[in-house]
Amino acid sequence: MAKKVFMGVYGCQMNFADAERMEGELHGIGYERTDDMESADLILLHTCCVRETAEDKVYGKIGEIKRLKRERPELIFGITGCMAQKEQEKLIRRAPHIDFVLGTGRIGELVETVKRFEAPERPRHLVDIEGADTEIPENMSVVRKSGVSAWIPIMYGCNNFCTYCIVPYVRGRERSREPQDIIREVEEAVHDGFREVTLLGQNVNSYGKDHKKADFADLLKAVDEVEGIERVRFMTSHPKDLSDKLIETIKNGRHLCEHFHLPVQYGTDRILHAMNRVYTVADYKALLRKIREAVPHASITTDLIVGFPGETDEDFREMIAFLREARYDAAYTFIYSPHSGTPAAEMDGQVPDDVKHKRLHELMAVQNEISLEINERLKGETVEVLVEGPSKGDEGVWTGRTRTDKIVLWRHGAERVGDLAHVTITQPQTWVLKGELIGEGQSV
Ligand code: SAM
Ligand code: SF4
Ligand code: F3S
Repeated sequence: MAKKVFMGVYGCQMNFADAERMEGELHGIGYERTDDMESADLILLHTCCVRETAEDKVYGKIGEIKRLKRERPELIFGITGCMAQKEQEKLIRRAPHIDFVLGTGRIGELVETVKRFEAPERPRHLVDIEGADTEIPENMSVVRKSGVSAWIPIMYGCNNFCTYCIVPYVRGRERSREPQDIIREVEEAVHDGFREVTLLGQNVNSYGKDHKKADFADLLKAVDEVEGIERVRFMTSHPKDLSDKLIETIKNGRHLCEHFHLPVQYGTDRILHAMNRVYTVADYKALLRKIREAVPHASITTDLIVGFPGETDEDFREMIAFLREARYDAAYTFIYSPHSGTPAAEMDGQVPDDVKHKRLHELMAVQNEISLEINERLKGETVEVLVEGPSKGDEGVWTGRTRTDKIVLWRHGAERVGDLAHVTITQPQTWVLKGELIGEGQSV
């Protein structure tokens, strides 16, 4: 009988992409994934530490697992990912029922580590966090979650050291995969039935600056030409080095989706400088203009942080004005979370929690208004969606995305998962577009 692994995965797409590789490797030594923690032989938490809330969730889960470990001491329990890298043996001091802690550069050691704990003479604990900077090994098996879209990491790490961010410390320096390894993985995904790929990196615009074999625009062109690919997405783009060549490439691409996730983080020069984002509001606005001129129907989304140290009411008002001018299709808004060891945590003028929350709500309300206005313009238009399947709430209502990454819902007709369907938008909302399938559809 197959052994069972429960994997709790937290954080960004990068972590989800790692987890698919971890699952692939574990499959090779006889593990099947289960959603039932109670019956698992191996429990792995692949963790995130970007904000305190992410860490709290993991600590909650670690607490739940204590009982299981008491009842079944043979259970193997490991922590991997960014929090493992950050907290190291502190995790075991705090929760001695954890068997092992493997850092972000040690995914290649997962199988050997699990085998050591399967052996009769199992170690008491193991902590291995060396080498956050090492290459993630190529040729790992991958078990992708089913669906139409595959995640393909193109680079690891980050060199930017935004003053609030822990990622460069836990993920190491930027390392780009070889173009041919990426293309091979895209071809395999297409061969396995995936119609869309999302190329992943903390800052995809820096792709290839290390090996100089191809830059990101070159890579996109090559992926666009893979036989059978329908859509190519990417994230995340740092505004500081989004090149004209990249904008041209997307404009001229066949399968390159017209969606830019371009985190601005803040809307005043003073805070941007304190964040070490190395662009000004004017630079960023010029970039928005350039994108919109070249690709007028592109959607643009962003990340925003409120409550950065030193943020005044005046900064915040300026930020709201910036948001109204930038007119993002959507924004992911975060409350600044201090990390010891990062420069921002030591800065004067930490903003009280209640002020942070108040600002977050105001920001979200303004953005929701803008998102709705933008989506309302799509009323009556027919959009092309890549069909993902039944929606969460209702089997009869199906969901898919436009090339611009908008979620569309419609009543299921004869279309199948992976088809390109045409839907006329009848009820645009802030986060989703409801519509009617052309052909055999009914409105939702
Ligand atoms: N590399 C991407 C970039 O620079 O845009 C983003 C990576 S980060 C995983 C995702 C988002 O988390 C960031 O864009 C930022 O808005 C947010 N973030 C990072 N550190 C944070 C912190 N300490 N507190 C709150 N939000 C944070
Ligand atoms: Fe963090 Fe900045 Fe790197 Fe993004 S670019 S991962 S926000 S340090
Ligand atoms: Fe979190 Fe690590 Fe991603 S800290 S956001 S999982 S790179």
